[in-house]
Amino acid sequence: MRTEQPKVIYLKDYQAPEYLIDETNLTFELYEDHTLVHAQLVMRRNPERGEGLPPLVLDGQQLELQWVALDDRVLDEGEYQLDENHLTLQPTAKNFTVDSTVRIHPETNTALEGLYKSGKMFCTQCEAEGFRKITYYLDRPDVMSSFTTTLSAEQHKYPVLLSNGNPVASGQEEGGRHWATWQDPFKKPAYLFALVAGDLWAVEDSFTTMSQREVALRIYVEPENIDKCQHAMDSLKKSMRWDEEVYGREYDLDIFMIVAVNDFNMGAMENKGLNIFNSSCVLAKAETATDAAHQRVEGVVAHEYFHNWSGNRVTCRDWFQLSLKEGFTVFRDSEFSADMNSRTVKRVEDVAFLRTNQFAEDAGPMAHPVRPDSFIEISNFYTLTVYEKGSEVVRMIHTLVGVDGFRKGTDLYFERHDGQAVTCDDFVKAMEDANGIDLTQFKRWYTQSGTPRLAVEESYDAAARSYTLSFRQSCPATPGQPSKQPFVIPLEMGLLGSAGQPLPLRLQGEDAAVGDNRVLAITELEQSFTFVDLEEKPLPSLLRGFSAPIKLSFPYSRDQLMFLMQHDSDGFNRWEAGQQLSVQVLQELIGQHQRGEALKLDQRLVEAFRTLLLDSSLDQAMVAEMLSLPSEAYLTEISDEADVEAIHAAREFARKQLADALHEPLWQRYQDNRVASRETPYVAEATHIARRSLQNIALSYLMLSGRAQVLEACQEQYQSCDNMTERLTALAVLVNSPFEEEKAKALAMFADYFKDDPLVMDQWFSVQAGCTLPGGLERVQALMEHPAFTLKNPNKIRALIGAFANQNLVNFHRADGAGYRFLADQVITLNARNPQIASRLLAPLTRWRKYAPARQALMRGELERILASGELSSDVYEVVSKSLA
Ligand code: TRP
Ligand code: ZN
Repeated sequence: MRTEQPKVIYLKDYQAPEYLIDETNLTFELYEDHTLVHAQLVMRRNPERGEGLPPLVLDGQQLELQWVALDDRVLDEGEYQLDENHLTLQPTAKNFTVDSTVRIHPETNTALEGLYKSGKMFCTQCEAEGFRKITYYLDRPDVMSSFTTTLSAEQHKYPVLLSNGNPVASGQEEGGRHWATWQDPFKKPAYLFALVAGDLWAVEDSFTTMSQREVALRIYVEPENIDKCQHAMDSLKKSMRWDEEVYGREYDLDIFMIVAVNDFNMGAMENKGLNIFNSSCVLAKAETATDAAHQRVEGVVAHEYFHNWSGNRVTCRDWFQLSLKEGFTVFRDSEFSADMNSRTVKRVEDVAFLRTNQFAEDAGPMAHPVRPDSFIEISNFYTLTVYEKGSEVVRMIHTLVGVDGFRKGTDLYFERHDGQAVTCDDFVKAMEDANGIDLTQFKRWYTQSGTPRLAVEESYDAAARSYTLSFRQSCPATPGQPSKQPFVIPLEMGLLGSAGQPLPLRLQGEDAAVGDNRVLAITELEQSFTFVDLEEKPLPSLLRGFSAPIKLSFPYSRDQLMFLMQHDSDGFNRWEAGQQLSVQVLQELIGQHQRGEALKLDQRLVEAFRTLLLDSSLDQAMVAEMLSLPSEAYLTEISDEADVEAIHAAREFARKQLADALHEPLWQRYQDNRVASRETPYVAEATHIARRSLQNIALSYLMLSGRAQVLEACQEQYQSCDNMTERLTALAVLVNSPFEEEKAKALAMFADYFKDDPLVMDQWFSVQAGCTLPGGLERVQALMEHPAFTLKNPNKIRALIGAFANQNLVNFHRADGAGYRFLADQVITLNARNPQIASRLLAPLTRWRKYAPARQALMRGELERILASGELSSDVYEVVSKSLA
């Protein structure tokens, strides 16, 4: 908890550390009611910081110091200073050793940061600043040290003792205890330190690297989960091969370990050689995890593995550079997933997520650049902007320099900076140097926040047979940034002829056409490009593959969008045309609802969907994506003032109309796919996932008909399927239906069967939290009393409270403000227990500016109540105070 005014930390104040730590030797004695940590730090004056020996200020929080010694001499109390966050002492030589012993309490650590217990096991989470809760240290990423770690614990309870690097020694002790020593030869910052002790089983495998080294692979889990590790293991081996093939990166230790823990604040953590994972991102088998969960496991395993180079071998100089490792690694894992599955589907999913969630963040009170200039609490900056927009920025560089140029750039980056802690500028410099280009203007993507807009106009000159596209970019003001400089926007595009054919692209001044798909670099506020040799006015396909994270507007008619849906050679833009058509149609319905008129659906949407359903040559996963109407959250994001009820009513009306008009083809596709699912055992592979996704979206439309025949089919799928993908959709569809009796029965059956599997129970909570029928808040409140629910577990909080506030907009935004009051109550409770989770849970309340005055007042009122509720963590304080500013 905060006792002084929270301090703002600025990038411009960065200074290299006064001292360095060359070697860190740690010993942990783990007991049930406390842990002793002995640290020996072999240190020296940083030569970069000149002569003289300023005081040594070590970071430390919530540590009970037993003693501290300088060069083997135990210091008297007058020889050091202690405050709540530091231990300060005075070195007397350039080279010296600091020894200390502290006592800590992992058994009561509910913040899940530092050393803590998850169930019966000890584990750590040190990123970003958790190591200071373990021992006194220079807890900053530009201090890199080799680590030797010894842990001792009761052998019977904790047979497995793990830390980073290679195991070098182990033995027994008196009184049923044992110990193990691990040595990590690679220098690393403290945030990559990890330790695990528990009664764990391992699935073992091995990987032969490109230079023929054998690497042992182990996934450690609690015994009951040993049958859920194969998918993660397969994903790991695929990731290791892919990083060799695509980036030339080889793994560097003899062993790579993953440990699954149930209580974890985020998805997973890339600790050197010892990744620690939220069990939700490791465990997956057909019966318990959906296709989406399988894909998430594959993506997160890859993400953490890829960090071994993009993050660990080359790390961040300071936390303002977080996107150096996170943006780059998200880009790497998304390309991996694209290569392993369907590229277009992956892109569609990522873009839909970015536009719904990151764009909202970038338009709200917490908006910040990909490389922030300041923060109060770094944990608040593990954001969609740093991760997802950061990945888009790397993707744009990839687009600008091409596949080969990008590889040259990363080769140079890894070679130049191996073993160093560097900045985003260093990354861009490597790209510039490897490709002989200047990215000075491009770097505004790192420093300017907000989502740029690009307005596009066209004109065709029949006499000159030329076609001009005129672009005008702008970017809204964001906190601390009233005005912006123009961005470099790589715009991938093509032109279509009246038969839908791609047209050759020749810009005025060019000798000949250069293909039919190209990237225009837009660099000015206003800029135009003229294409020549065009017999007729073409139809433009713009921002193909979503080549820049912007909001593009072009005055397409609905007929033109339908034409693009069918003919665009770019799969992403076919989906995008469908989304834009849906948005136009839904916005028309929203207007009708607001004016109190009868709703009337534009039949062109029905016809466009019918064409998709009848074309059996299309990728089923893309058909499923294209049949999915934009979410209420996305419709909220693109509204100036979101009308919660109108958005919900319009979207539900459209779904019902579509379901009625397309009952025949939906039923046909559903039955064909269900038959195939019944006849094929579950495989988490792209074509199978595609089949199930179309089957499931068809079922969700069909259920809106209320027909007995569909209810029967839904129940058959629910009871007879062999996998969670089919079962959970059947359950979700029932839960949102009016069939109360069947719903109650299915929910009870599910909970009874899966009561001992916490990850499956999370899905059971989520399905109910997302039910948009009236009474949502009361249902969520009742579920908080369910024996499987606990506020101690972040996954449970996300599954029930998070899902309710983020995905059940009509219920959360109840006009009387009860949803807001409920969320604020949870934030106040969690603030003391787990500040990181409390602060994340708060996000929906920060979006108050999107709503009409009555809701604004209610939402602000709850933010003010949180602010006045007592001693706030720096995490919650920062988000609340910035939201009210
Ligand atoms: N570096 C982790 C990643 O792969 C992020 C992370 C995991 C994290 N746990 C955390 C960040 C706890 C802050 C706090 O993206
Ligand atoms: Zn990461």
